[in-house]
This record gives sequence, C-alpha cells and structure tokens, in this order.
Amino acid sequence: MPRIAYVDGAFTPHRDACVGIEDRGLQFADSVYEVWGVRNGRLMDSPGHLDRLFRSLGELRIAFPVTREALMIALEELRRRNRIRNGLLYLQVTRGVAPRDHGFPAQATPTMIATAKHIPQHKADARAKAGVSVVTAPDIRWGRCDIKTTGLTANILAKQHAREQGAFEVWMLDADGYVTEGSSSNAWIVASGDVLVTRPVTDNILAGVTRAAILRIAGELGLTVEERAFTPQEAMDAKEAFMTSASSFVMPVISIDGAQIGDGRPGETSVALRQGYEKLALNA
Ligand code: PDD
Repeated sequence: MPRIAYVDGAFTPHRDACVGIEDRGLQFADSVYEVWGVRNGRLMDSPGHLDRLFRSLGELRIAFPVTREALMIALEELRRRNRIRNGLLYLQVTRGVAPRDHGFPAQATPTMIATAKHIPQHKADARAKAGVSVVTAPDIRWGRCDIKTTGLTANILAKQHAREQGAFEVWMLDADGYVTEGSSSNAWIVASGDVLVTRPVTDNILAGVTRAAILRIAGELGLTVEERAFTPQEAMDAKEAFMTSASSFVMPVISIDGAQIGDGRPGETSVALRQGYEKLALNA
C-alpha cells in the first residue's frame, strides 16, 4: 500500500509530495512542527499537541489559517489512509514560499505538510523492556528551545553523537553541567525516596506533552515530583532514569556515559509510568 502525505490541503502519494524550493522552511527553518504518537489507531494527547503547535506558531508570528478542528480531521484522515494503528504523525507548518529575504515576506501563505509513519509496536515494547543507554554532550542550541521549530541542527548532531557511541539518546548539558533534555525527549530520574526529578520548563527546554501527562500520572500514583535540574552524576546515583516523548512514551534509561543506573534494568516506577501513560492516552 503506498504511503500518503498531506500537503497544503491535498492528499498525495508520499513519493510525489513536494514543496517549493523557496519555501522558508527549507531556506531558513522558518517553520514549526509537531509529532503525535498513534497507539491502537488513536492519536495520543491531541489537545496538548495542538496547544503547543499554536503556541509555537504564535511565537514565530506565523498566521496559520487552519482551525484545530479542521487540522484534526485532516490528521485523522491521514492516519486512516495510511492505515496506521501504531506509529507517528508528523506535521510541519512553514511561513510559506517567498523570494529569499531574512525578514518576514509581506505576503506568504503558510505551507502545511503532514506525513505518517508505521512503527512495529513489538519493537518499541521490546526496547522499553530492555531499556536504553544515554550519553552526555554539551547543549549547543539557541535560547528558545521552548519553540518546536524545525531548526534541529544541534539536535541531529547530538543524536548522531549518541549513535556513534552506541547509545540511543543524548542528554544535553547546560553551561553549569546540568542536564537540559534529550535531543528529542525530556529527561527524568527517580532519586532516592522515589522522588521524580525533571527539569522545570523554561525557554531552554521543550515543554513535552508526554512530560505533562507523566506529571499528572505521577500525581495520581502518589509520587513526589521535584521540578529541578539534575547532573549526570545524580543520574548515575539515581534508582532509575527514563526519557519521555511522543515517539518513545516512557523509555527506561539503564546507563549514562557507560555507568549503570540502579541494577541496570528498567525500574518499577518507570514501568508503572509507561503503563499509566498507555492507559491514559487510550482513554483520552
Ligand atoms: N520530539 N524535547 C525535545 C527536544 C523534543 O524534540 C521532544 C519531542 C521532546 C518531548 O516532547 P513530546 O513529549 O511532546 O513528544 C522533548 C519529537 C517526538 C520528535 O522530534 O520526533
């Protein structure tokens, strides 16, 4: 079955889908994006992703004329046409096509691209059962990491560093040596006393939609949460660690920079939160 993409209001075979060469998304990364996890045919955490999308668009002053309702109808139709039960939906919105000039064009119609990807659920579940490794690297990104722009150069260099080290993710470090977040995920530890620790949301990390859901679930499970920065050494000494994102849900982290965390296996809090997230997302 051929993959289908959605570009500017039309469904089109993925391999034929294209945008103009002067699209500002391509020329300047003058564009934002969102990623929805799909589980059992349902788009997960939709309100949170829509809220963040429109916030990102607002921060870049991109006037996107599509309503939340129309967007959800298009995304759901994209999911259906690609027959995705488990996978991801990607949406990019750029400022549009205009003659190249750094300043905003006087007139441009935002470009919208949506694509769908199948992910074999058993593979994701097997990875979560085994846990993953992370390595650290300096966070070299700009000062507005709270906006989900497609300007991901620093993130891709970080992820490539992880791959070359045989790790699944990078935890990036600020100038003071504290973990900011992963290259495409938020970072968490479970410190002694079962205290969940994750960095507060400011302009130097992305406000993860999965992160917000996990904070709610943690509350329901009666866990104590401290929103504060932590160091790699704290992570090494922690009982557990994990990362969260739309693509990985809650992914247990079992080592950092080669040092084993806890007993080197996914911890019970991480596993409980992963189960809680799956349930919550399906009931949303
Ligand atoms: N990544 N931090 C960064 C830098 C991210 O790129 C992401 C998401 C997150 C987690 O956010 P959320 O829980 O809303 O997915 C944190 C997506 C999945 C991606 O780039 O593919």
